[in-house]
Amino acid sequence: MSEPTVPPPVEPTAEAAEAEIAELTARIEEANAAYHGRDAPELTDADYDALRRRLRALEERFPDLRRPDSPSERVGAPPAEGFGKVRHEVRMLSLANALAAEEVGEFDARIRRFLGVGPDAPLAYTAEPKIDGLSLSIRYEGGRLVEAATRGDGAVGEDVTANVRTLAEVPVAIDGAPQVLEVRGEAYMSYDDFAALNARQEAAGLKPFANPRNAAAGSLRQLDPAVTAARPLRFFAYAWGALSEPLAETQWGALERLEALGLPINRESARVEALAGLLDYHAAIEARRGELGYDIDGVVYKVDELALQARLGFRSSTPRWAIAHKFAAQTAWTRLNAIDIRVGRTGALTPTARLEPVTVGGVVVQNATLHNEDYIAGRAADGTPIREGRDIRVGDRVQLYRAGDVIPKVSDVDPTARPDGARPFAYPETCPECGSPAPREPGDAVRRCTGGLICPAQAAEKLIHFVSRGAFDIEGLGEKQVEALFADGWIREPADIFTLQARHGGTEPRLADREGWGEISAANLFRAVEARRTIPLDRLLFGLGIRHVGSSGGRLLARHYGTWEAFAAAVDAARPAAERHRAAEEAERAERMAAAEEGRRAALKAARDAAWEGAEPDARAAWDELVGIDGIGTVVALAISDAFAAPQERASVDRLVAGLTIEPVEGPAAGALSGKTVVFTGSLGRMTRAEAKARAEALGARVSGSVSARTDLVVLGEAAGSKGKRAIELGVATVDEDGWLAILDGA
Ligand code: IVH
Repeated sequence: MSEPTVPPPVEPTAEAAEAEIAELTARIEEANAAYHGRDAPELTDADYDALRRRLRALEERFPDLRRPDSPSERVGAPPAEGFGKVRHEVRMLSLANALAAEEVGEFDARIRRFLGVGPDAPLAYTAEPKIDGLSLSIRYEGGRLVEAATRGDGAVGEDVTANVRTLAEVPVAIDGAPQVLEVRGEAYMSYDDFAALNARQEAAGLKPFANPRNAAAGSLRQLDPAVTAARPLRFFAYAWGALSEPLAETQWGALERLEALGLPINRESARVEALAGLLDYHAAIEARRGELGYDIDGVVYKVDELALQARLGFRSSTPRWAIAHKFAAQTAWTRLNAIDIRVGRTGALTPTARLEPVTVGGVVVQNATLHNEDYIAGRAADGTPIREGRDIRVGDRVQLYRAGDVIPKVSDVDPTARPDGARPFAYPETCPECGSPAPREPGDAVRRCTGGLICPAQAAEKLIHFVSRGAFDIEGLGEKQVEALFADGWIREPADIFTLQARHGGTEPRLADREGWGEISAANLFRAVEARRTIPLDRLLFGLGIRHVGSSGGRLLARHYGTWEAFAAAVDAARPAAERHRAAEEAERAERMAAAEEGRRAALKAARDAAWEGAEPDARAAWDELVGIDGIGTVVALAISDAFAAPQERASVDRLVAGLTIEPVEGPAAGALSGKTVVFTGSLGRMTRAEAKARAEALGARVSGSVSARTDLVVLGEAAGSKGKRAIELGVATVDEDGWLAILDGA
């Protein structure tokens, strides 16, 4: 599970921003995997949106820190393995969100400004319920259903044709349709069908689904269409992709045409006028939300006239002519019975509220997140008060807040209802699982257990992460199984998974004899484990569960170093410099506290330089290379160095690696600069830095941010500074802008 934190409202330093970007990237990727890959959301929609908004804001403020594969713009998750892939002829986009009426007002005003129509001119919209399901694109050619795909990442989805053919409401043949017709809409499950399905699941001894959306997604993503056929999925059409001829002149007309062709549309949709019409519709449908019989999480407004939609066009991943107006979160009051502290994979201590059960928006809630120590104490990360400074105590009456899916949070407290004798919550300063100190590093919102692998909670969470989908993805080994095997000491570290068969396959005690296991499931697991003995380097790096290294970080490192040996050697070589970097930061921090305003810059620089004095040149070069990888900065690099610094942890990784065959990851494309590391410095006159970098990468180069002995080429733009000097000192080849253009011309 990810570790929720309250984003600091203050302007961060570049370094804090880098750490936060790494953390946000990892959390968004994890949430994407949970939501799309495992159909088991871990964050509420609102929290997820907040993470993406924060990431985008940081990237706008610090464009240099934007990672090449940032999840801030991506829509959804890449397609899962197991299904064929379908490239959408017309991209499947997402919608911008509005939460408050003012944001809807801005949407309407923006459109009017863009189109040059006055605030009072007539402007028609459609208002449609926003179905909380799974979007599909269904292609008909000559009136026959030929292909159906999920959204996937917007560009490429999963081929679910066989499954969609089993949906009763979706015709497999239609009369009078355009030659090519891609119908888009939402697959969903009604409440009644969901309840009946869960009853059947439970009767069959299977896990019930958490909510209708997950049930719909899980049903559609069945590899066996017979299973989908037995699940009652419904469909609403509300949009289209490729068309051989237009459907109508308006959105409303298009919905009518789709309905005339035999496709189900939502009869709750309406054609409304201007802002007032939008807000009235929203209020009316929200009041009737419970009567609809299926989940909606808001309303979608679309400019009705298609010619106006075409003029308004799109931003990078959302149309300008539509917006989703979400419903407000639901809240309820209840009693806080206890605060439990959970220890995560990276040692983070996170507080969970145990509550007197209460119904919030139709769901019984007993647990909620309390974010972190500061949140409980009533202050933000920068010390400013939240909830006007009210702290939260065991025994308090607290308000719960639930938006969309799962994990509600404690949002407020009623100090007038506080029981006598309630004391401020004493946040633990040692790990509740292993007793190791759990300090808070400067700038970190959370306390972290320092026990490493001796902490049973960290070790178990690391194992759970290791077997998870983006990592080793070992089928048959889920959270429950890992916990049970860990508790009994059968698996204590990742390497043990690969020796499980030798220890508990044929010889007693046998895995097959354990509760919940049998001959077949044990044999299947051993087979699944063997299949993962060969593993791509990026998955291994992600699977190790290094703090700040998510799946994209793993990919960047794997692409850069190519092999495990090169990576491990580089990290070991860089360690002395990593320590110096830390010392330099600490010296600078101490100096910052001490130094008077005057002469401060010089003092800070002196403190930093002193820490670097006499630095080992090889270590420095290895460190510079590591932090020079685009998307990896000092915060991530320190975390990587630390991850292998403790001898026990390093030995554990070595035991794992010894039993594996590690596949290199596809490196940069072959080309004139194949395998070369290039650094740009100074400003280029004839192309932007972004374009220069893209051109270099297209020719197979790695583009790095800092010059080291391993740099192959430095391109010196106008006013190139210290990097140019350093290149000359190190004897690295340099070219000016003309030289760079000549390389491009010759390539
Ligand atoms: S229109 C280019 N209309 O909401 C616009 N989407 O948050 C395409 N959704 O991806 C979407 N009901 O899965 C549209 N009436 C509706 C919708 C709807 C539900 C979903 C859809 C979309 C997501 C965006």
